Amino acid sequence: MKIFRFLMFFLAVFLVCGTVIFNVAEAGKKSSKYKRRYLPPVENALYADECASCHFLYLPGLLPGGSWVKIMNGSEDHFGEDLALEEETTAEILKYLKANGAESTGAKRSKKIMKSLKGETPLRITEVPYIVKEHHEVKSKVFKRESIGSFSNCVACHRTAAKGVFEEDDIKIPKK
Ligand code: HEC
Ligand code: HEC
Repeated sequence: MKIFRFLMFFLAVFLVCGTVIFNVAEAGKKSSKYKRRYLPPVENALYADECASCHFLYLPGLLPGGSWVKIMNGSEDHFGEDLALEEETTAEILKYLKANGAESTGAKRSKKIMKSLKGETPLRITEVPYIVKEHHEVKSKVFKRESIGSFSNCVACHRTAAKGVFEEDDIKIPKK
């Protein structure tokens, strides 16, 4: 009977270890699935402080590093506004944006953005071919509705945009 007990013990150890390994692997898969599916939310206080007072705080993964370089280098004439940023502030924000640009997030939408750009580095997300294509059914007068204003106001329709989630189910176009 000794051998039987020994075998049972072995089986128990095997089952416990197996369950633990399986759960860890599943959790890992889930978080990497999230990363592939959604864009990483903003995690930078300085960027949030300086770049969210006039519009939605765009996720760095929506543009390639080269676009962010142009945007930050042109901050004295930012779509007609002088952002009046200190040199150090500009450099620090740019460092964050470049490190988290579309080429580096691993998210599927960043990849689609990169692919559609073919090396171009536009100043606007709303000029990225993939983004334009995804909105071809939205009429221009819809963007002009009072609570939307323009195509650039992602969060007006993508309520979960700040979380990096641009799923179809989370879109709600305001009626006015
Ligand atoms: C003083 C107001 C103001 C501040 C502060 C500001 N922006 Fe803007 N930004 C604008 C305006 C105006 C536009 C053009 C919006 C439009 O056409 O509807 C714009 C557009 C943009 C766009 C293009 C959006 C599109 O259409 O795809 C990006 C990207 C952007 N800003 C990034 C930044 C970054 C990065 C910062 C911080 C360094 C910043 N903005 C701070 C006023 C501002
Ligand atoms: C007027 C509302 C509105 C605004 C503003 C808007 N979107 Fe959209 N967006 C839509 C609609 C509608 C779709 C199409 C959904 C579909 O048919 O799959 C869409 C689709 C998308 C998709 C593709 C989603 C998918 O199913 O793969 C992305 C990514 C996206 N938008 C990003 C943005 C970004 C970034 C901005 C801001 C620069 C923005 N959108 C502004 C309404 C809007």
